[in-house]
Amino acid sequence: MKDGRRPASASVFSHPGQLSSDQRHLRKEPCMIPLVYDQINRWGKDDDFFLALLKKADVEHVADLGCGTGRLTTHFAEAGYRLTAIDPHEEAIEYARSKDRSILWIVGDSSQLQPNHFDAVVMTANVAQVFLTDCSWQRVVSDAYAALKPGGHFMFDARNPTAKAWEQWEKDLTPDIATDPSSGEPLEIWTEYEGFRGDVYVFYETVKHARTGETLIHQKMELIFRTQEQIHESLALAGFSQIQAYGDWEFRPATEKSNSVVFHGIKSSRSV
Ligand SMILES: C[S@@+](CC[C@H](N)C(=O)[O-])C[C@H]1O[C@@H](n2cnc3c(N)ncnc32)[C@H](O)[C@@H]1O
Repeated sequence: MKDGRRPASASVFSHPGQLSSDQRHLRKEPCMIPLVYDQINRWGKDDDFFLALLKKADVEHVADLGCGTGRLTTHFAEAGYRLTAIDPHEEAIEYARSKDRSILWIVGDSSQLQPNHFDAVVMTANVAQVFLTDCSWQRVVSDAYAALKPGGHFMFDARNPTAKAWEQWEKDLTPDIATDPSSGEPLEIWTEYEGFRGDVYVFYETVKHARTGETLIHQKMELIFRTQEQIHESLALAGFSQIQAYGDWEFRPATEKSNSVVFHGIKSSRSV
């Protein structure tokens, strides 16, 4: 969930035109730069929490939807889970695959999840906020439900709008620093904040070559902030029960003050 940190950023390698014909239907929401993503999103308590949740759920086969560069996926695999990892971002998947070839990496979206197949579907680091319309969000929740075996677990995080994370982001006027892995040259990632259009927060990321000041990319990004009630409702509508909303790393319930909320719903064991 990367709370306290600025929002993860768009892809310097984002070339939608390069998707193969069977992948053109994939809607790639711009929300990360594979080149620098792992460097500016270090391991956090949220990552430990997802590992703890999976352990508690006692699952085996896990789908990591919106896995990105596999930043967390590879740790799930190391913990002994069987992983299927899906993301529409072709370059992110390519990078992820180079980290661990034993994981099944798929360029795709929730429509690629096999029905009745997984013990858990996870979406980490606020993937839930990239689905900007009610329709696209409800589709993902329904696809996750269909993909789970009866008794299966759906777990994901989202920033809590009542905690107003953007107020902190907007105070930080310094760039993130990263290194271009191929040249070793320093990069700066600058963020400009436009603000809300409805419940969608709009901002712009610029990746610059630190030494020359050359702009490598300038990208608009959008993140939706849904209330806990809206998310709870969408889970219930899809059929999930025993819905939990955790607000800290000790499994305590979320409140208005929680920066981020981790949702956990279960597919009824009577589902077919
Ligand atoms: C902030 S990153 C999170 C990556 C990873 N889960 C992590 O923990 O680091 C958000 C990810 O959502 C992915 N994404 C965008 N649109 C998507 C969609 N329609 N279906 C699934 N994932 C999507 C992006 O490509 C990106 O990798």
